[in-house]
Amino acid sequence: MNVAAELDEIRRRLNAIRRITVITGAGVSAASGVPTFRGPGGLWRNRQATQLATPEAFLQDPALVWEWYEWRRSVIAKCEPNAAHRVIANWSQAPGFTLVTQNVDGLHERAGSRRSLKLHGDIWRLQCSECGRNWPDRRSPLPKLPPHCGCGAIARPGVVWFGEPLGEVWAEAQHAAREAQVLLLVGTSAIVYPAASLAPIAKSAGARVIEINPDETPLSAHVDLSLRGLAGELLPQLIAP
Ligand code: APR
Repeated sequence: MNVAAELDEIRRRLNAIRRITVITGAGVSAASGVPTFRGPGGLWRNRQATQLATPEAFLQDPALVWEWYEWRRSVIAKCEPNAAHRVIANWSQAPGFTLVTQNVDGLHERAGSRRSLKLHGDIWRLQCSECGRNWPDRRSPLPKLPPHCGCGAIARPGVVWFGEPLGEVWAEAQHAAREAQVLLLVGTSAIVYPAASLAPIAKSAGARVIEINPDETPLSAHVDLSLRGLAGELLPQLIAP
């Protein structure tokens, strides 16, 4: 089947079904200019993002990790949602639709998505490293680095770092994967677990799994359909009349 015919078939299927789950990754925000974790965008002052986003890095040098998050927050604050975020926001109005995102940038909400299961937290929230309080703070720059909780302890970004558990949202995400008739996997390298296990969970529960990504991923060979292309170009074609 050629791409146009495949898009046609997916469009028909999406119109006919009730339960759709979409899982998004950094690729969905790439066209908005959000810096990636991997590849050239993952370097900051010669340090790898994947090494800074760890509990160990924060323990060792909280000021450095906060400087990096402060920079990320300032870049993201200037980014705008793109066509992919807008298509997903449009779908989110329908009952039976669930958005599961690995992104912490808040662009899905800014595009109008009603609700998302944020697997890896939210860069616009802070969390106390002692008492666990978690609160929103959209100021960029923050008035003082590192920020502190009302209890006096140092606060950390409200995101999930490598090696940390996902929290209650994980059970909801698994449920959404099991219930889905179609699961769309958009813009994720599918190498970070447990998020990457949602596609196999959905598939073994009977969902049709469709991947949208310009590059091959470890899941490409296991999904029902792998569409090679950009989220901002392919997703709008799935809702075109
Ligand atoms: N449209 C669709 N996919 C794209 C686009 C685009 N315009 N641009 C890039 N991609 C793809 C890349 O080919 C890659 O496969 O998006 C994927 C992005 O992969 P990662 O940067 O690894 O992002 P993600 O899968 O979300 O990472 C998972 O790991 O970096 C940590 O906690 C962070 O939530 C993140 C998690």
